[in-house]
Amino acid sequence: MTRSVPKGTDPAAFIERNTQLLDCPLVPEIKLHLASEIVPIWQLTEEELAKQGVPPPFWAFAWAGGQALSRYILDHPERVRGKSVLDFAAGSGIVAIAAGMAGASSVLAADIDPFSVAACRLNATANGIDIDATSDNLLTDESMRWDVILAGDICYEQPLASQVEDWLSRHAANGTTVLIGDPGRTYLPKENMEKLISYAVKTTRELEDMDVRNTTVWQLEAKRL
Ligand SMILES: C[S@@+](CC[C@H](N)C(=O)[O-])C[C@H]1O[C@@H](n2cnc3c(N)ncnc32)[C@H](O)[C@@H]1O
Repeated sequence: MTRSVPKGTDPAAFIERNTQLLDCPLVPEIKLHLASEIVPIWQLTEEELAKQGVPPPFWAFAWAGGQALSRYILDHPERVRGKSVLDFAAGSGIVAIAAGMAGASSVLAADIDPFSVAACRLNATANGIDIDATSDNLLTDESMRWDVILAGDICYEQPLASQVEDWLSRHAANGTTVLIGDPGRTYLPKENMEKLISYAVKTTRELEDMDVRNTTVWQLEAKRL
């Protein structure tokens, strides 16, 4: 279900107040409004954030899966050049921005968190890239089609991961190229996955239990459904 913004809360103003515009370690071409030691919003408890009307700020980090996928797209622009692209579960919009930089003909960033949608717009503007962004839950929409779907770090919880796997598999079966960036999350699909490349991605101990995560870009192969 799409989340709503509580009355009186301005997501863009909250993001600008609580983040710094920083480079991403693996993708220094892209600057994002991110949490840092100076503005440590991830350490606020869910309760404190909820009091301010803010869901957990996934958009305030460049997750390892999104960084790896963005690096791959920038180094292999032919995967998206001239194509319509969806960045599913966009968070900060890092992957959408990479697709725009690599020459996609259109880019839609989708995330059910309206703060993420605001972050995607702010971050795209900060990088001089034009994208659309939506908080619609596309998992319940079977009518829309893209040439390419990119999904960074989406396999971190059940039942989201299995719902996403089914939805992505249907798109792959319809001819869409589906690429997933994943740092070894528990619920990554086990079947019909072709490994494209791996990167060592620097992360923060605030989020992960290690400083570097080996992160792989996979292509979900089309199978007959
Ligand atoms: C771990 S973050 C990854 C963000 C980004 N792709 C990256 O790699 O930096 C996962 C994101 O999935 C989003 N999400 C969860 N369920 C979703 C759904 N049904 N549709 C779209 N986004 C969803 C969350 O709001 C969150 O921003």
